Amino acid sequence: MSSNRRIALTGFMGVGKSSVARHLSNMCGVRRVDLDSFIETAEGRQIAEILDSDGEPAYRVIESNALAKLLETDAAPILSLGGGTWMFEKNRDLLRDSGYTALWLEASFEQCWLNIVFSRKTRPLARDRASAERLFIERQKTYCLAEWHFIVRPEMTSMEIARQIREEFFD
Ligand code: S3P
Repeated sequence: MSSNRRIALTGFMGVGKSSVARHLSNMCGVRRVDLDSFIETAEGRQIAEILDSDGEPAYRVIESNALAKLLETDAAPILSLGGGTWMFEKNRDLLRDSGYTALWLEASFEQCWLNIVFSRKTRPLARDRASAERLFIERQKTYCLAEWHFIVRPEMTSMEIARQIREEFFD
C-alpha cells in the first residue's frame, strides 16, 4: 500500500467493515482506526447507550465531531466508519478534505442481516428486520457516492475480502 494512501471503509451495518479493516491493516502493515471505537472511548459509553439515551440526532452530532477530531489527531491510513457516517455531507467533506478515498463494501441485505443477528454488537438502528431493511434501501443511493465499490459475496471471509481489496486497490 503506498505510504500516502488513505482509505475509509463504508457500508451497511453487518457488512464487515471493522473486520476487513483489521485484516487489511495487518496485511498492508499500516495502522487503522475504527470510528465507533474512537467514539466509545471518547464518550466513555457504548454507542447503543448513546443512541438510546440521547437519540439519533444528538448521536450524529457526536459522531461528526468525533470524526473531525479523529481526522485532526489520529488519521490512520485505514479508517472504518459507522454504517451511517457516510450518509452526511459534512462527514463526506471532512473525509475528502483529509485525503481519504471511500470504499463502499456492498453486500445483500440478507447477508448484512444475518451478521447483525449473530453479532454481539447491539445496533439500536437495526432492532427489527423491517426497519433495518428500509434503512438499507434508503441508504444505497448515498453509499453509491463512494469513489470505490467492492461487492462482498456471501461465501467470502473478511480475510479474503481484505486480500482482494489489497490486490484491486493497492497493488
Ligand atoms: C450505525 C451503525 C453502527 C454505529 C451506530 C449507527 C448506522 O456501526 O455507528 O449504531 O447508522 O448504520 P456499524 O455499521 O459498525 O454497525
